Amino acid sequence: MATRGGFSSRIGFIAAAAGSAVGLGNIWGFPYEVGSGGGAAFVVLYLAFCFILCFPVMATEIAIGRKTERNPVGAFAALGYKKWKWIGKMGIIAGILILSFYNVIAGWAFGYIFEMAAGNFGVAETFGDYTSQVFKVGGYGLVFMATTAFVVSKGISGGIEKMAKLLMPTLIIMIIGLVVYGLTLPNSMDGIKFYLVPDFTKINGNTIYNAMGQAFFSLSLGMGALITYGSYVSKKENIVTAAAWVTVVDVSIAFLAGLMIFPLIGFMSGGTMEGAGGGPALIFVTLAQIFGELGGSLGAIVGTGFFLLLCFAALTSTVSLLEVPVSYVVDEMNIRRKKAVWLVAGVIFLIGIPSLLGNGYSDFFNNFITYIGAENPTDFMSMVISIANESMLPLGGCMIAFFAAHVWKRNNLDDELAIGAPNYKGSFVQKYLNFAIAYLAPIVLGVMFILTVLSTFFGIDLI
Ligand code: PFF
Repeated sequence: MATRGGFSSRIGFIAAAAGSAVGLGNIWGFPYEVGSGGGAAFVVLYLAFCFILCFPVMATEIAIGRKTERNPVGAFAALGYKKWKWIGKMGIIAGILILSFYNVIAGWAFGYIFEMAAGNFGVAETFGDYTSQVFKVGGYGLVFMATTAFVVSKGISGGIEKMAKLLMPTLIIMIIGLVVYGLTLPNSMDGIKFYLVPDFTKINGNTIYNAMGQAFFSLSLGMGALITYGSYVSKKENIVTAAAWVTVVDVSIAFLAGLMIFPLIGFMSGGTMEGAGGGPALIFVTLAQIFGELGGSLGAIVGTGFFLLLCFAALTSTVSLLEVPVSYVVDEMNIRRKKAVWLVAGVIFLIGIPSLLGNGYSDFFNNFITYIGAENPTDFMSMVISIANESMLPLGGCMIAFFAAHVWKRNNLDDELAIGAPNYKGSFVQKYLNFAIAYLAPIVLGVMFILTVLSTFFGIDLI
């Protein structure tokens, strides 16, 4: 395995794993989910899911990766359970599907850097037209995918680690700058109230699914991304502490993204918070309008900075998404890393084309499928999100936890977690992780998976 490479330092691994976690999910997804899902009550649920359920699954994924030094498919085989390889295969398919649409959104964000720099804030008013210009935004997407491939082709310590170490701190500084700026504006406190004072009557079944799904997607769990990153981690590393750091960094950045956006919406709406529920377009429409409101060069500078930041965050995530299928191809098919990277990236770009076309350009992909019991058709990209993010990730997480606790067995998991962590055995954390991985995660995630599939694809709402 000498040629696989590895992280050169502890902070490098944490930065790379946190870079994978922090992405469009935090800065584009989290605020719109909060905005449409009841404000602060959603935030409370999300935080609870991240720490109670996701953190143990993360430690488990990293442990499986480090133990086996393999990609998600090879990992199950290396532990001696070939029959469980399908979990890894499902993860790789989920990763491919996620990257295919994620790159389209990243392409939009990339294009916005130039729109903002040119002072073209009107793009917010006509966002639907913007996404229909498929040659333009598809071109941006192509550049984004090529950049991702370039970084991944540089390997672990040279590419991924270096980039993460540089971009993560830059990102945090940029967000804090925008938070401070937003707080100086009139009516910003109305945004803070919406964001931080919970009203628990707003919680329903949907809020719970969404908060759970958001926590899982945001932490890059359930598809083996962290099995893959874990495979490059040194035996000196304390996995539990690293997973805790990654969780804290990811949650903090999502939290900061909210702190950045809601005061701006408070200002923009004159305190009514109208527009907070703008859904997936929140950032691209509402925020860009706010930048326009700031006027001239100030709006252009803040707007350009913001979308640059969003692209940084997205890049550290697309890199990890691409790394998953690439490590599979390199390990299992014996193809050279460089060749594997460009091949896989090219194929995923092609798979993303229907998602690109289904956002205004092509009626066929705009109204691709009508689920049983649904009134309206669903576009291609939303379908991919439902299949990959909302169904495959919870199922993958459920199966990874079940496998680790009941097939590979808890004592083996504990042995791996204890390497590099002298105080782990006998600690409260060990007891909690054992309980969470054996019972809590498989049951909660399994139930979530079933409820989501029934509700989304069959129109059957049990809660
Ligand atoms: N966690 C990333 C985000 O929040 O944008 C998305 C993601 C990356 C999901 C890598 C899954 C993954 F393996």
